[in-house]
Amino acid sequence: MQLCVALDLPTKEENLALVKKIKEYDVWLKVGLRSYIRDGEDFLIEIKKINPDFKIFLDLKLYDIPNTMADAAESIMSLGVDTFNVHASAGKRAMSEVMKRLSKYETRPIVLAVTALTSFSEDEFVEVYEKDIASKANQFAKDAMSSGLDGVVCSAFESASIKSVTTKEFMTLTPGIRPFGENAGDQQRVADATYAKGAMVDFIVVGRPIYQASNPAEVVEKILKEF
Ligand code: C5P
Repeated sequence: MQLCVALDLPTKEENLALVKKIKEYDVWLKVGLRSYIRDGEDFLIEIKKINPDFKIFLDLKLYDIPNTMADAAESIMSLGVDTFNVHASAGKRAMSEVMKRLSKYETRPIVLAVTALTSFSEDEFVEVYEKDIASKANQFAKDAMSSGLDGVVCSAFESASIKSVTTKEFMTLTPGIRPFGENAGDQQRVADATYAKGAMVDFIVVGRPIYQASNPAEVVEKILKEF
């Protein structure tokens, strides 16, 4: 299991200060919408200057018509990130188009599909998708696998079931992690690090419990020890 730290702070300077504090650790970094819209490619370059070995997950959750998604995926290729994601609900044709476009490159990032956002409660999810989270997440995962993607973003509670309907190697990346039962904030379906490990999760994403801590490095170290 790998730890992926969400860089969701209000300014680039604060995010980079956090990156410096945890630069010794074997962690991935997640650059999301807020940071990328504000700070763009320069931010990615500055992260690599702090430690070129940091792996970056660009969490932009693409959702558009197939051709536009494939165009966007190709632009992401040029950024040199290690992982990015799309919404599974964009459909199999869109996901396949993305993978087809990337197939001409010798190496490509890991591509994941978002199943159900971890902020959804069961009722809210049914309101939008007219199906329960567990079965829809399984369906999205099967769609993503048959479209050639490498894995999905889901909650830790769906990870084991998704692996059983796909393969053990099909990756799961789970936000909504409160490593030691910390405050959930707006997340609805939260699990701790031990649960995630038991559910065969490949990547846990942790944001607020790390960047809001008075000593983020200490929390990172504690989580890595837990692994
Ligand atoms: O602060 P917290 O640990 O809740 O942060 C979780 C991060 O994971 C946020 O950046 C959020 O946008 C992201 N995320 C999520 N649920 C998803 C996909 C991404 O919470 N399904």
